[in-house]
Amino acid sequence: MREKIVAGNWKMNLSENEAISLVQTISLNKVEGVTQIVFPPFIYLTTLLKLNSQVFIGAQNFYPKDKGAFTGEVSITQLKNIGVTHVLVGHSERRTLFSESNEFLKEKVDAALNAGIKVVFCCGEPLEIRQENTHESFVSKQLEESLFHLTSEQLKDIVIAYEPIWAIGTGLTASSEQAEAMHASIRKSLTNKYGAVSADAISILYGGSCNPTNAHELFSCNNVDGGLIGGASLKADEFHAISTAY
Ligand code: 13P
Repeated sequence: MREKIVAGNWKMNLSENEAISLVQTISLNKVEGVTQIVFPPFIYLTTLLKLNSQVFIGAQNFYPKDKGAFTGEVSITQLKNIGVTHVLVGHSERRTLFSESNEFLKEKVDAALNAGIKVVFCCGEPLEIRQENTHESFVSKQLEESLFHLTSEQLKDIVIAYEPIWAIGTGLTASSEQAEAMHASIRKSLTNKYGAVSADAISILYGGSCNPTNAHELFSCNNVDGGLIGGASLKADEFHAISTAY
């Protein structure tokens, strides 16, 4: 049985009070059997970790050097030190707005795993790649270049999130057929590289306009193990509804 995970990527949203209240409400209504993680902005991490809630607190970003003259950056060691358990790596907004390459993401993956932090690794194609029908090989290359140097032991600390860029924040969700086809293709790439036992153990989340209305259909797919939620994760009732949509 693969781990069921519903994670909220808050991006650059919410005030401190809203952040505290959201974590407290999610924690109070904890959904059993589902790992719930939130990824708040950096400035709220310490406060939210001190709530000792039922929710895992992850970081949206970090810089993959241990310490030094990197003005404005935060290291994975610093995140580990305050109690962060998960990090996002490879989100399309970091890839496109901040020019993070597959090679740089590989460095981030290594830094996080070396620090004992679990990685939610995001992948996904832009619209033109989907229209060209080369999306499966596009995503497979993202995985190969940033993850496939890992050992099968290291792979256990990776969760994959498939987020088609055309579905992020657009209200346009991948259909359950599209999501399942891509998730199955991701699992096939993992199987080819690591064998079926390792590949079958990895949770693959769907992200991109996932909401309480479409979550159940998506989560019912064989290879969809949960969701990475943006907009709908900012509202406690919607995040809860998605977390119970299996
Ligand atoms: P939306 O759910 O707002 O489309 O965002 C998805 C996302 O980018 C999560 O990382």
